[in-house]
Amino acid sequence: MSNTAVPFELFSPDYFRDPYTALDWLRVNSPVHRYVFPVGDVPMWVVTRYDDAMAILADTRFSTAEWRGSPEFQAAGLSVSGGTILAQTIPGLDPPQHTRVRRCAMSAFTPRNVERWRDDIRRIIDQTIQDWEPGQEKDLVAEFAAPIPPAVIATRLGFTMERRAELARDVELLISTEPEDFPRIPGARQRLVDYGRELVAMKRAEPGDDLTSAFIRAADEESKITEDELTALVIIMVIAGVGTTKMFITNAILALLDHPDQRKMIADDPAILAGSGIEELLRYESPVASVPWRFPTESIRVRDVEIPAGEPVMVMIASANRDPDVFDDPHRLDLTRTGPRHLGLGHGIHNCLGAAVARLISGMALGTLVERFPDLRLAIPREHVRRNEIWALNDYRALPVIL
Ligand code: HEM
Repeated sequence: MSNTAVPFELFSPDYFRDPYTALDWLRVNSPVHRYVFPVGDVPMWVVTRYDDAMAILADTRFSTAEWRGSPEFQAAGLSVSGGTILAQTIPGLDPPQHTRVRRCAMSAFTPRNVERWRDDIRRIIDQTIQDWEPGQEKDLVAEFAAPIPPAVIATRLGFTMERRAELARDVELLISTEPEDFPRIPGARQRLVDYGRELVAMKRAEPGDDLTSAFIRAADEESKITEDELTALVIIMVIAGVGTTKMFITNAILALLDHPDQRKMIADDPAILAGSGIEELLRYESPVASVPWRFPTESIRVRDVEIPAGEPVMVMIASANRDPDVFDDPHRLDLTRTGPRHLGLGHGIHNCLGAAVARLISGMALGTLVERFPDLRLAIPREHVRRNEIWALNDYRALPVIL
């Protein structure tokens, strides 16, 4: 099963036009699929079924630490941290280091702390659309989904105004897959580390009512994390929170444009969004198509396949979330859907730390848009709305609409 020939090319332009047909095929015909990643010819595995995805994400024998990757992975230069302190960010840590840093971070994400985000989010959304009038044409990626999350997250972290714009640019660069951007990525990575250090020093000198000060308090009082771990924690909030929330707002608007009956449901009963609605939108098209690579720390059998130690595993949550063995009629958007939980925000020890914040920002942004512009419609033919070809993400380039 592992070497099954597939009737399509994974991560080709055709795949990105409609990933779900390919993922449906893999789930049935080759659920633990041998794949050679085109960058560096790295042998790896693509896992597409819900129960296998859950099992791997809950199994700490699958590490997220890049140094555990196979020699081919190391040689291919696929490392995101590039040898900087970004290797110390929680997504790439294993227990017990992960447990210690995560505990420190969690204490700053109490429901009371997250509730404090609400006023900033409201103000930033209102400022973003203050001049908008029905009938105008806007690109909802560039003018709505992209600017709101970095403004909110950088404000809550306590960054100065000038740093906020630089941060957004550097995060875009860091996750870029455009070859012409590659030489600029190390610079962006270093700047992000520098901004983090600068902010931690600033907030140590002058603590405030912000997330960075809360992290510093927790680090000093409770779980004793190192200065590098603290800086990495501040930076990962931006890296993990900005792009994902941008993509999710975009994907959710597009899903609602594709399903006018579901949009009407929100207009009739806005409370549905904060409940089952957001969860269904996260299931239907989570921005994270595949969580960051997992590296088996020993040879591990998944179904009938033995995955050797170190060979990277892609856990395709975009596919798990459409598994018909788990979700009834999985390609249908149904904002009233209840039942098994989706994996759009991950599962296991690395599940999304910012989940409450992600739900709050996206829910408020989507609710505002649906309420203010009930006649919102696409300004271009649907088939012209295209994904960026980034294998791990569900990321649309632009979403031109008439308000
Ligand atoms: C809709 C928006 C978001 C989505 C879909 C999303 C999705 C995810 C997913 C799938 C994971 C698991 C990754 C893994 O298993 O390796 C994750 C982890 C994480 N997310 Fe989010 N995320 C979102 C927003 C945010 C925000 C706003 C923040 C911070 C303010 C954030 C911070 C993090 C962090 C720090 C982790 C790593 C946790 C750990 O390794 O223990 N995310 N996210």
